[in-house]
Amino acid sequence: EQLAILASVLRTAVDAIIIIDQRGTIESANIATERMFGFSPGEMIGQNVKMLMPSPDHEQHDGYLERYQKTGERHIIGIGREVTGKRKDGSLFPLHLGVSEVETDQRKLFTGILRDISELKAAEAELKQLN
Ligand code: HEM
Repeated sequence: EQLAILASVLRTAVDAIIIIDQRGTIESANIATERMFGFSPGEMIGQNVKMLMPSPDHEQHDGYLERYQKTGERHIIGIGREVTGKRKDGSLFPLHLGVSEVETDQRKLFTGILRDISELKAAEAELKQLN
């Protein structure tokens, strides 16, 4: 029952929810992630999460994960950040990214929750033009 509810929350969420391991390998992604980025689950699972972002983060994301492992310094975890995502077709779009850390028995995983903020940004830009 609880598991079924959890599964249905993941399935129906509007935000993309992605789980990676300490090396950045995507372990799972919900349906909203497929809609947002245009990749099928088969194209994402087992790949590095950097596939979802443009340069310079694309080249640096492994380093971000390593730095966090070494220093424990949080730059996004528990804070959130506006970042740029990259879809399968190469187009870029603004995202709000929240990351949290999940400790299981053996391993440390990270959960990312991503919200497409393109419309919010467009509205912001229009408002600015009015002033
Ligand atoms: C760190 C970008 C997705 C997990 C970072 C940092 C950036 C970044 C810029 C370093 C911040 C800094 O050093 O100041 C992005 C972009 C993404 C993305 C553009 C677009 C898809 C994800 C996802 C997860 C994730 C989906 C987890 C599932 C982490 C972790 C860190 C990190 C664990 C290091 C801890 C921290 O700095 O707090 N990311 N990220 N990232 N990211 Fe990502």
